[in-house]
Amino acid sequence: MLRRLHHTQPDSFAFTAANLDWAKGQISKYPAGRQASAVIPLLWRAQEQEGWLSRAAIEHVADMLGMAYIRVLEVATFYFMFQLQPVGRIAHVQICGTTSCMICGAEDLIAVCKDLIAPTPHTLSADGKFSWEEVECMGACTNAPMAQIGKDYYEDLTAEGLRALIGRFSAGEVPVPGPQNGRYAAEPKTGLTSLKDFDSGRTQYNATVQHAVDIGDTVKRIDGTEVPLSTPWLGRPAATRGAVLPVMSKPEPAAAGAGRKPEALAAARAGKADDLKLIWGIGPKLEALCHRLGFFHFDQIAGWTAAEVAWVDDNLEGFKGRVTRDRWVAQAKVLAAGGSAEDAERIGRGDTG
Ligand code: FES
Repeated sequence: MLRRLHHTQPDSFAFTAANLDWAKGQISKYPAGRQASAVIPLLWRAQEQEGWLSRAAIEHVADMLGMAYIRVLEVATFYFMFQLQPVGRIAHVQICGTTSCMICGAEDLIAVCKDLIAPTPHTLSADGKFSWEEVECMGACTNAPMAQIGKDYYEDLTAEGLRALIGRFSAGEVPVPGPQNGRYAAEPKTGLTSLKDFDSGRTQYNATVQHAVDIGDTVKRIDGTEVPLSTPWLGRPAATRGAVLPVMSKPEPAAAGAGRKPEALAAARAGKADDLKLIWGIGPKLEALCHRLGFFHFDQIAGWTAAEVAWVDDNLEGFKGRVTRDRWVAQAKVLAAGGSAEDAERIGRGDTG
């Protein structure tokens, strides 16, 4: 496929102030003279901001990195993940057309895109809301056929299901991603045949979907205010980064029984709550739920005992078990001690390396 710059181009490109900060943080990760290493993150952020890469954006990134325009153009035209033409205002729909998906009905999904969006890929719909393309395997073959819409996967699709999804997006909704046929994850359609204990502790959605729901940016254009890039080397003593990391082994054990409610606050101290969303796994909904339960600060969470963890885990409505699963207490200890969201995320993910 010939990948060229689009025939219609904007006059200029600029990162939003927050995205510019983010981009400078990315560049600062690399030693002097190696700033070109940040080319893909910066191009990707430009695309996340605008939806696609214009010539102005490509040249802007080249200027920021001290690279010849042709070098950045080479990168942007080589990788198919970069969109070189305007995409739908609401979403760009990427249909997997590789073997599993093709066998399970990808061609029907493409027919829906041709019918509802545009007869040809990389073409805006008449109302400018959508565009589509066929892509190679996206690694969700056990949930074929599937599509990536915005940032998230919609799996186990049917033609009618995709029609309905596009209709809901068009109406301003953001449907819950993941399997669309009632499956929880990638288990057999007839139910689990092994590891059945898994059923007892599961949350409302599987982990990937839950994270997507918590973040809620499926089709959002990113302006940089969402999650600031953690750059402790630019203002925080680098030593604190590793020093506050506890040795991780297992998640905090949950106590048997209903546990005990931790001490709660009526409101945030001094009227200013900590940003609990820096705890990996907590999104806006969980943060609001924590506030309703009286938890506003990292040091509150950091001090929970096993019995208190059990109580909170049991009272998180649609998010039961998340405190233990995502190691909130250990993450909160790091954040309360001045550690970064990056450090906390590593703990939340169980990455002890
Ligand atoms: S074949 Fe479609 S996700 Fe792998």
